[in-house]
Amino acid sequence: MNTTSLVLVMQRACMQTFRQPQLALPASSSMVRSCLLSTQPVPAARLPCRVKVSAGKHYAWCACGHSKKQPFCDGAHRKEAPSILPLRFTPEKDGTVLLCACKQTKNAPYCDGSHFKVIFRDLVKSVKGVFK
Ligand code: FES
Repeated sequence: MNTTSLVLVMQRACMQTFRQPQLALPASSSMVRSCLLSTQPVPAARLPCRVKVSAGKHYAWCACGHSKKQPFCDGAHRKEAPSILPLRFTPEKDGTVLLCACKQTKNAPYCDGSHFKVIFRDLVKSVKGVFK
């Protein structure tokens, strides 16, 4: 592997911001579908979302990663991951915050830098794929 192809692999890994966690299943396959429901959050993105929040306003942070309105809940957990509920929070002051989108933070809903582990893991996976 030369340097150019390694750079291309790294660029591709970094540009794949959104994962496609949902599977297209026929409506009649309810047994199969119940087996495939998420019990672990899926990363919605590899970087946090910068969001303006207002003091005293109520927000629901998506904890499952299936919401289409990241980083906020759109109710997708009811269908995709019923055991993972959104985290409701109320900021104490107005401002801009970084809300976790990789869903690996230990300080939910705020980013704690855990997304670097996700990026590194995906990068290693991509590089390993090149050497198969
Ligand atoms: S985006 Fe999840 S810890 Fe930063």
